[in-house]
Amino acid sequence: MFDFDTIHNRRGTCSLKWNGREGEIPLWVADMDFVAAPAILQALQRRVQHGIFGYNVLPEAYYESIIAWWAQYHQYPIKKEWIVFCNGIVPAIASIIRHCTSAGAKILLQTPVYHAFFRCVEANGREVLESPLCYENGSYAIDFMALERDLQQPDVQMMILCNPHNPIGKVWNRDELATIGRLCAKHNVLLLSDEIHCDLLESGQTHTPMALVQSAPIITTLSASKAFNLAGLQGAFCVLEDSPLRERVSAAFAIDEINAPCAFSIDATIAAFSQSREWLVALNAYIAANKNLVRQTLEPLPVRVVGGEATYMLWIETAKIASDSGKLCADLREHAGLYFSPGTQFRGNGRDFLRANLALPQPLLRKALERFVSAILK
Ligand SMILES: Cc1ncc(COP(=O)(O)O)c(C=O)c1O
Repeated sequence: MFDFDTIHNRRGTCSLKWNGREGEIPLWVADMDFVAAPAILQALQRRVQHGIFGYNVLPEAYYESIIAWWAQYHQYPIKKEWIVFCNGIVPAIASIIRHCTSAGAKILLQTPVYHAFFRCVEANGREVLESPLCYENGSYAIDFMALERDLQQPDVQMMILCNPHNPIGKVWNRDELATIGRLCAKHNVLLLSDEIHCDLLESGQTHTPMALVQSAPIITTLSASKAFNLAGLQGAFCVLEDSPLRERVSAAFAIDEINAPCAFSIDATIAAFSQSREWLVALNAYIAANKNLVRQTLEPLPVRVVGGEATYMLWIETAKIASDSGKLCADLREHAGLYFSPGTQFRGNGRDFLRANLALPQPLLRKALERFVSAILK
């Protein structure tokens, strides 16, 4: 019913992902090589047809679409006044760090984790406190004693949780989330839960919004951009139940000028959340099939596929074929024409892994896998 198989030429469209060498297959930055859902395309076409692109306000339909989606699919009853628009999650996190923590503060990150978090912390004069996830036999877990020790360190003012977790593809369960929430509250650490990947789940997986298990004030960051492939439209939002914290964050976004909605982003978000569920279900099934193809193909090789419960990213252990994934990825790019994200970017034990973006048509994925297998067997 929806076509995810066609290979679209994205060269010459200002695509960051496809800006590399001719012939190279990009499997790095987190966007998808699929055309957006039909309802989104129609909404954007209507906007172009109208032809006037001035400043915008958020209409009622924007809030309604978000509220209905989270009530129906995540059992989280969000109130309209809790929603604060921003021009992206990364700008929002950077702004929150600047305005809700003090210079020199430590921000706790569970590594390996989405690399832009490090930039948000360090470029704003704060310090990353790495609280590494434990890795054993192909799976990650949280050592809660170590987490509490880290949260207790002097000057730890904030923790950024990735829920579900990029790059390891892990869906945190209710107990894990409740313990994280309890420890942050106990040690007076502001918790930000980045849930941008929450709608990209393998079947049978359920996302638990951190806000549902946490009574202390928290910040949740959300967007239609990851699940519906709208990253270039620069629209996201935070959910803040606590009104003093909400006022502080809204003021921060106003000071940093990251709260003016783009016309395309508004219309695309409404069409995504109110009319594109079927497309998303089909997308998740397609990504699951891609993941299975990778698992089957790599099974006989000395690499290990980890997790894969959430996101279209797959985290692949390469310790048996290389001692440094940075060098491995550079070699694969140079000699095999495959552009992966090196695990070193995500810190923690990332030097033993690479991250592969599987949101691409299967015929292209097959080609990438052929190249990967022959590069490894060489
Ligand atoms: C965990 C996480 N947060 C945020 C983002 C990016 O958000 P935005 O494009 O809204 O800045 C990404 C992109 O991959 C991500 O993986």
